[in-house]
Amino acid sequence: MSRSLVDLHCHILPGIDDGAKTIEDSAALLQQELKDGVAGIVFTPHFYYERTTPALFVENRKQAFRQVANYAKQNKLPLAAKLGAEVYFTRVLPTLELSHLAFAGTRYILIELPTTHHPGGIEDTLFEICQQGYTPILAHVERYPYVTEDPTLLYNWVSSGVLAQINASGLLRGGPGARLLHKYMGWNLVHLICSDAHSMAHRPPNLRAAYDLLPQAVAHDFSRNAVNVFLGRDFTPPEPQKPVYRLGRWV
Ligand SMILES: [Fe+2]
Repeated sequence: MSRSLVDLHCHILPGIDDGAKTIEDSAALLQQELKDGVAGIVFTPHFYYERTTPALFVENRKQAFRQVANYAKQNKLPLAAKLGAEVYFTRVLPTLELSHLAFAGTRYILIELPTTHHPGGIEDTLFEICQQGYTPILAHVERYPYVTEDPTLLYNWVSSGVLAQINASGLLRGGPGARLLHKYMGWNLVHLICSDAHSMAHRPPNLRAAYDLLPQAVAHDFSRNAVNVFLGRDFTPPEPQKPVYRLGRWV
């Protein structure tokens, strides 16, 4: 229980997306993160290009963060926090002011892909973002049916320098989904685990429980990677291995 964790994906800021609605909700989520041993958090409210502008998003996020910062200060929470976003995929992403959307003080940017369909232009868009000196982190890669069906997609993205994140709940749920995530780990196709916490009732902070399920070496790597991302440090992940479809399954 001594290891400090870093959560790079959560919806704890109040009243800004489908996560915490009030500062009381935020407080409960923060307290649970602390109980889990989380020492660093990036707040990542949803950003949808079609619904807002980066400038307006930044303003709303600042106001929401002010409430949480006040709460943390008044209650002397031992927590390092910074601002980020979960940016919904759009092909125009490379034309936006990415510095507003990346994790503060870093070149890491969390990107969510559609769960309903495989959007065209992922490779080109990710490439252009990388060309601008940012490292995309693909959010909860276990949630995209087209990746589950064909994990070589993930292999291609990771091979091009993209990082991949899984949700703690994907492991904790068990079953075939969790078994596939363990395969991803074996293929070096995933690098980070986060809570994606939204509410105490439905999607609570759960990072510690998921870390406890990881093989020790993987837990160590994920923890170190999360610290590196939080601090804005570059790091070189291990070489990914290309999954091969053989006798009805990916090996
Ligand atoms: Fe999220």
